[in-house]
Amino acid sequence: MTRPPGFELWEERFAGAEFRFGREPNPFLARCRPLLPASGKALAVADGEGRNGVWLARQGLDVVSTDFSPTAQGKARALAAEHGVAVTFVEADAHGWDYPAAEFDVVADIFTQFSPPAGRALKWAGMRRALKPGGLLIVVGYTPKQLAYGTGGPKDLAHLYTRAMLEEAFGDFAALSITEEETVLQEGAGHSGMSAVIGLTARKR
Ligand SMILES: C[S@@+](CC[C@H](N)C(=O)[O-])C[C@H]1O[C@@H](n2cnc3c(N)ncnc32)[C@H](O)[C@@H]1O
Repeated sequence: MTRPPGFELWEERFAGAEFRFGREPNPFLARCRPLLPASGKALAVADGEGRNGVWLARQGLDVVSTDFSPTAQGKARALAAEHGVAVTFVEADAHGWDYPAAEFDVVADIFTQFSPPAGRALKWAGMRRALKPGGLLIVVGYTPKQLAYGTGGPKDLAHLYTRAMLEEAFGDFAALSITEEETVLQEGAGHSGMSAVIGLTARKR
């Protein structure tokens, strides 16, 4: 079977016992708590070791966590068990997965900047399809300023997010809110130090 680009690299990164991006949810996602429904289905895209998907499950949501790394998903299963929550893990390529139509109340896309522009378009089209009308989209990524900080994320400018890019992709959503901030992230060894991040919340019409 041909694996998507980056597969071996991510398997290596996740091989150790430590959680590369920590065990706590991303801070922007955690701040979205008041926007979450009390129950319903959530999709955590390229959820890695599960810190965000498991946190969403802890908020009472029925979570599907996708990633292409079986090693990361093994650790995510352990994290879910530790918190006593059930999460459905699906091993999937974010660019090729058959995203189900109008299935999720929440879609969380946290630091999935492995995607080149064409892959990003496929992934975001899938996420958009997967949301129910009224469903909440949460996107978090680094902006181009992150290249100067060098504290995590891709080195390729084409993979980084700008406000204009997010507005172009999701400008037709309702209640669109985009926040850019320069802040210290402490998300394991993978995201550590002063960082330039952008977060989006919006609802599918
Ligand atoms: C920076 S990590 C972020 C993980 C998680 N979202 C978080 O915030 O902790 C990027 C994740 O994307 C996954 N990944 C990379 N390329 C992928 C692809 N083509 N399809 C699915 N997952 C992929 C990696 O295995 C890794 O878990």
